[in-house]
Amino acid sequence: MLELREAALAILASDDAQDKVSRLLKLFDEYQNQHITLDVAQKIDAQDLDLPGRPLKPELVLPKLVPKRRMDTTEGRAGLLHSLAHIEFNAMNLALDAIWRFPDMPKEYYEDWLKVAKEEAYHFSLVNEHLRSLGFSYGDFPAHNSLWEMVERTTDSVIARMALVPRTMEARGLDAVPSIRDRFKQIKEVRAVEMLEIILNDEIGHVLIGNRWFNFLCSKDKLSPISAYRELAAQYRAPVLKGPFNMEARKQAGFSTEELDLLGA
Ligand SMILES: [Fe+2]
Ligand SMILES: [Fe+2]
Repeated sequence: MLELREAALAILASDDAQDKVSRLLKLFDEYQNQHITLDVAQKIDAQDLDLPGRPLKPELVLPKLVPKRRMDTTEGRAGLLHSLAHIEFNAMNLALDAIWRFPDMPKEYYEDWLKVAKEEAYHFSLVNEHLRSLGFSYGDFPAHNSLWEMVERTTDSVIARMALVPRTMEARGLDAVPSIRDRFKQIKEVRAVEMLEIILNDEIGHVLIGNRWFNFLCSKDKLSPISAYRELAAQYRAPVLKGPFNMEARKQAGFSTEELDLLGA
């Protein structure tokens, strides 16, 4: 029988986006139907794999070299959706990476990240479909890789990963999505608005999962979440949080009142 963490690594290594999506959805179903085992103790070696597996395109460039996205041209809107598609592609990768890389977490940790991975595959498909309806596809524009770079910086520590990837990088999505949604609302692109509502709602759940496991690890090591976050953000050179913040979404995503107050200060 297949083992979940090994299977997650194999899918992470796949260099075809569509293949990654369909294998991931299948893995989720098979795990639900108890056709997959879970070995939390196994230390998996991925040294000779080039991670994440990704198609030759998009070309990866520095954030400032990603073209500006104008809403008044089809190409501009496609460019914006393409950036989103790339984020969802890497979000699938980061959820798979959280599963295979870190041993000795409770079973629910792996199940939570499997659910995130499945939802990211759905988001990627939604965005990609919309992109296609505009005559473009994933790979047509250059993309930047900040999200994956934070994943790579935190390969040695599950608490750093939880602090800085879901609770920092994905949480920025909670702040950013509403204004993107409103830009599509203005031009009455209803399907894009609906898609962004789904994404925003699911992303609250992903950040909540990040918070759950970050707080779990903090209490296990008797750390204060506030000072542990501050130290990890400095140690791993996390981006400095910049407002405006989506306080309501962040509250739903499990940040404590104290943490929210610090953002507002
Ligand atoms: Fe997503
Ligand atoms: Fe996410």
